[in-house]
Amino acid sequence: MRVLVLNGPNLGRLGRRQPEIYGTTTHAELAAMCVAWGAELGLEVEVRQTNHEGVMVDWLNQAADDRTPVVLNAAAWTHYSYAVLDACAQLEAPLVEVHISDPQKRPEEFRHHSVVTPYAVEVVAGHGVEGYRMALEVLARG
Ligand code: DQA
Repeated sequence: MRVLVLNGPNLGRLGRRQPEIYGTTTHAELAAMCVAWGAELGLEVEVRQTNHEGVMVDWLNQAADDRTPVVLNAAAWTHYSYAVLDACAQLEAPLVEVHISDPQKRPEEFRHHSVVTPYAVEVVAGHGVEGYRMALEVLARG
């Protein structure tokens, strides 16, 4: 089974971005880990990251057309992007929402709401990059 792992804005700077919150694993390392975890689970994983909302919407639309399961860390778009919400609503295969930190436990009010959650079969948050493995396990379980 092919799976897309889609990462939103600022996640390309993982490892350098607020390591006290997001850890020291870089995005390239995370991508390699996701591919390896996927292989263990019998999944063919492709990892992408973009800072551009329209690019993310295009990827989600393609995933809807292809009925591809998605692991999505929409990063800040999680909290306010109705374009990402509409794109998630069109997905045909399961969607797992993932966050490295736990937005619900962070002090900023705006992080407490997710436009993605209503369309996700599961939310994995607060487990660091390990959360991506947990999200892939959800998809592998079917
Ligand atoms: C994040 C949490 C979001 O609130 C934040 O905007 C991010 C990353 C996470 O993975 O913990 O960019 O999605």
